[in-house]
Amino acid sequence: MRTQVAIVGSGPSGLLLSQILAKHGVESVIVENRSKDYVLARIRAGVIEHGAVDVLTQYGVADRLHREGMRHDGVYLQWPGERHRIDFVESCGHSVWVYGQTEITKDMIEIREADGQQIFWDVSDTAIHDADTDHPRVTFVDADGSQQSIEADYVAGCDGFHGVSRQTIPESVRTVRERVYPYAWLGILAEVAPSTDELIYALHPDGFAMHSMRSDHVSRLYLQVHPDEVIESWSDDRIWTALSTRMAIDGWELRSGPTLEKSITPMRSFVSAPMRWGRLFLAGDASHIVPPTGAKGLNLAIADVKRLGTALVSKINDGSDALLDRYSDDALERVWLSTHFSWWMTSMLHMPPDTDPDREFLLQMQMTQLKYVTTSTAAMTGLAENYTGSVLPYP
Ligand code: FAD
Ligand code: DHB
Repeated sequence: MRTQVAIVGSGPSGLLLSQILAKHGVESVIVENRSKDYVLARIRAGVIEHGAVDVLTQYGVADRLHREGMRHDGVYLQWPGERHRIDFVESCGHSVWVYGQTEITKDMIEIREADGQQIFWDVSDTAIHDADTDHPRVTFVDADGSQQSIEADYVAGCDGFHGVSRQTIPESVRTVRERVYPYAWLGILAEVAPSTDELIYALHPDGFAMHSMRSDHVSRLYLQVHPDEVIESWSDDRIWTALSTRMAIDGWELRSGPTLEKSITPMRSFVSAPMRWGRLFLAGDASHIVPPTGAKGLNLAIADVKRLGTALVSKINDGSDALLDRYSDDALERVWLSTHFSWWMTSMLHMPPDTDPDREFLLQMQMTQLKYVTTSTAAMTGLAENYTGSVLPYP
């Protein structure tokens, strides 16, 4: 089969790219190695920058987000005995939206399928060939076991951190910068009304804890755990006890409820550059991973894809190479900004391991940073403009 853009991966990056291309009359085919049910049920991000909301709105996939999403104008930072609010609007004039990635994915799948988008679900053995020539191809085995081949003008690698696209680029032309953190996040989705109006990020001697939400009756909460922890060791009781201990503050109580999902996610910062090799372009987690503390991963994916979609349309419809040639350099600027912010938030809010020889020094740095960021107007503005994604304009 033939198409203009072959897209590997049907996560937020791949789905949004196909939507942008379709709006400009460019044809694409998506291949996804998981089932549609699996992709629809996957629980991940929740915080969307205002610029990312604008992109989703511009391409017609944000109607439900505008109806059901929650605008948040600030966030709480906490340490034992103190909880402080950073007001985003006062600090930098912008807000964020709380709306699950699961819902964004569901909305985009519905819209793409109604539009006749070809998506191959449940494929295996995805491989990208001849990306450094004018005739790239993607091959795979479809859900029925038949070998398939897509000839395309361009290939978009939107297949996340564990995908095949990045690996297709020879090691000799790739540079990887990476940090693996000595902790992980245990996340739960719970059927209980949020105990807070805005997100709480808390540092506690037992480790970091966070309170987010999905609706007025569903909460999303996270705990710092050791990266070797297994979810089976964490009963609901143990999780709720740890959450209420770490987020305790006088006059406030954490409501608990049945958990709908729980899982543990390792934390790393990872950037592979360049984001282009010949006719293969990487976007989202396929090219970079940030620790979740700054809520940047999905937002970066949306910014990459807006940039890549616009560049592909400009080449395919108008014959202009300019944006495609700048894609990797331009995208990496935002990638590094978000990588820095997530690393900074992560370092400020997580307990270093007992074995870290600099532990006592790092703890002192954390408290100094937390006090600074909650008292200095300049420091608050720095956090607010990074958190809301307004340091750099969206492409
Ligand atoms: P993915 O979502 O990983 O999608 C890639 C797709 O490609 C998947 O569907 C995968 O199955 C498919 N695929 C993989 N390999 C192949 C193959 N060989 N062939 C075909 N298909 C393949 N980000 C935020 O911005 N805000 C947050 O609040 C936030 N919180 C998070 C909380 C947690 C617990 C986690 C884990 C992540 C969080 N993130 C957050 C990050 C965000 O979820 C990711 O950055 C986002 O999913 C990236 O989208 P993507 O489409 O690039 O990659
Ligand atoms: C959520 C995830 C994050 O990584 C974060 O920093 C804030 C909120 C969430 O899932 O709601």
